[in-house]
Amino acid sequence: MGTITIDGRKVEFTDEKNLLTVIRKAGIDIPTLCYHSELSTFGACRLCTVEDDRGRTFASCSEEPRDGMVIYTNTGKLKKYRKLIIELLLASHCRDCTTCVKSGDCNLQTLAHRFGVTSVRYSNYREQKPLDFSSPSIVRDPNKCILCGNCVRVCNELQGVGALDFAFRGSEAMVMPAFDKEIAATDCVNCGQCQIFCPTGAISIRHNREAVWEALADPDVRVVAQVAPAVRVA
Ligand code: FES
Repeated sequence: MGTITIDGRKVEFTDEKNLLTVIRKAGIDIPTLCYHSELSTFGACRLCTVEDDRGRTFASCSEEPRDGMVIYTNTGKLKKYRKLIIELLLASHCRDCTTCVKSGDCNLQTLAHRFGVTSVRYSNYREQKPLDFSSPSIVRDPNKCILCGNCVRVCNELQGVGALDFAFRGSEAMVMPAFDKEIAATDCVNCGQCQIFCPTGAISIRHNREAVWEALADPDVRVVAQVAPAVRVA
């Protein structure tokens, strides 16, 4: 319990589990890609980073609210960080945004538009991986995964299945079923929760994908492609 000064405004908190929740309670729209109140905190994307009165920056989703804190949520430094984070995520991301099944409903695309990321200065060095069409319910596209871990946590923590997990380290890190099996060869129960929590097109509902590609074969394809502004990449 206490009071925090957020962007010059006093905000009271009681038992909120992290600073991000207090900031949102104050009506401030702070971007996130890896935070969900229903899941454990992962702190991977760093988009929720805030700055304190001593110029220190830290992820608000992983910070406990403390009485007397003074924080800023939208300084020039933070805007620059957020834009760079999005650009770096797009750098190692599949570049087919305009024809992606999630175009218009993709958090990464929405944030790129919001932060004015209109081009990406870095090359995509990641090897293209095959899509996994083995499941009757979802399609996995590892080339669109941003390693937020939402699918891993919802599958493990909420569903108790554990069909997906992280593999490898550093720039080789990936999310996949154990031993790189197809999703149909795991204990996946086809609940679709991973698709709901996925912020990009890395996991999509199978029938949606088929419907979109059928539409793309149609002359009205331009209607589909115009749903959201395209992210132009190098
Ligand atoms: Fe805080 Fe991703 S939302 S690090």
